[in-house]
Amino acid sequence: MRVLIIGGSGFLGTELVRQATAAGWETAATYCSRPGRLPGASWHRLDLRAPGHVDEVLAAVAPGAVINARSGGSDWAVTADGSIRVAMAAAQRGCRLVHVSSDAVFSGSRVHYDETCLPDPVTPYGAAKATAETAVRLLAPTAAVARTSLIIGGAEPTPPCPGPSTSASTAASHRGMSAHGCAEPGSSSAPGRAKGEPGSPKGRCRDTAPPALRSENVQAGRYGPAWTS
Ligand SMILES: NC(=O)c1ccc[n+]([C@@H]2O[C@H](COP(=O)([O-])OP(=O)(O)OC[C@H]3O[C@@H](n4cnc5c(N)ncnc54)[C@H](OP(=O)(O)O)[C@@H]3O)[C@@H](O)[C@H]2O)c1
Repeated sequence: MRVLIIGGSGFLGTELVRQATAAGWETAATYCSRPGRLPGASWHRLDLRAPGHVDEVLAAVAPGAVINARSGGSDWAVTADGSIRVAMAAAQRGCRLVHVSSDAVFSGSRVHYDETCLPDPVTPYGAAKATAETAVRLLAPTAAVARTSLIIGGAEPTPPCPGPSTSASTAASHRGMSAHGCAEPGSSSAPGRAKGEPGSPKGRCRDTAPPALRSENVQAGRYGPAWTS
């Protein structure tokens, strides 16, 4: 099995690369600005903002499975459009896709969430993640979508990050703190705010629904920043 880990140079991606190579998988991984350092994987530069770039990388690697663990924060072009590009490319090539999503797709207004809960993001990041995973489910129906919350651990967390320390404990994690010691980008709350609290960063998403989720809308770019403004 050859696996391609998109965002392999990131916090989660580094661990995925480590485990994939340790498990004996033929592993390829991507970076955007910081080349990955783990040996045992072939490294490829990928910028998901560039149309066609992901197709080139998939053609070069020819993976059986793709894990999309990149993060673009609230940058719609990376987090939403980029994920759509990955899903389309993976589906066209018949690759199994694992898409990493986030609990930021939810407002935090409920106490318990399960797989049947519909996304109700309240931040631009959450909206981009919700759009990404919704599009992935349409474009690559066999994809696995993994919604993770705080990711902790690892020997080499991404270093430079002002903000509260991860030692701020579980309470902080439930306010959207990442394992880097930063607020997970656009997590449904900023540090010090409870999830879903009015006045989350940049306000709530607009109340009207996004365009109908059809492939022609996705391909025509009708899912755009307007949904979050
Ligand atoms: N960390 C958490 O606590 C947490 C919580 C919930 C969900 N998640 C989700 O888990 C996934 C991984 O998060 P993470 O914290 O590991 O992210 P991260 O450490 O910030 O890593 C981001 C990765 O994405 C790459 N990337 C950035 N811009 C890109 C672009 N334009 N094109 C292609 N690749 C690009 C980065 O490459 P370079 O560094 O080389 O630029 C890096 O490999 C994300 O989907 C995130 O939403 C994370």
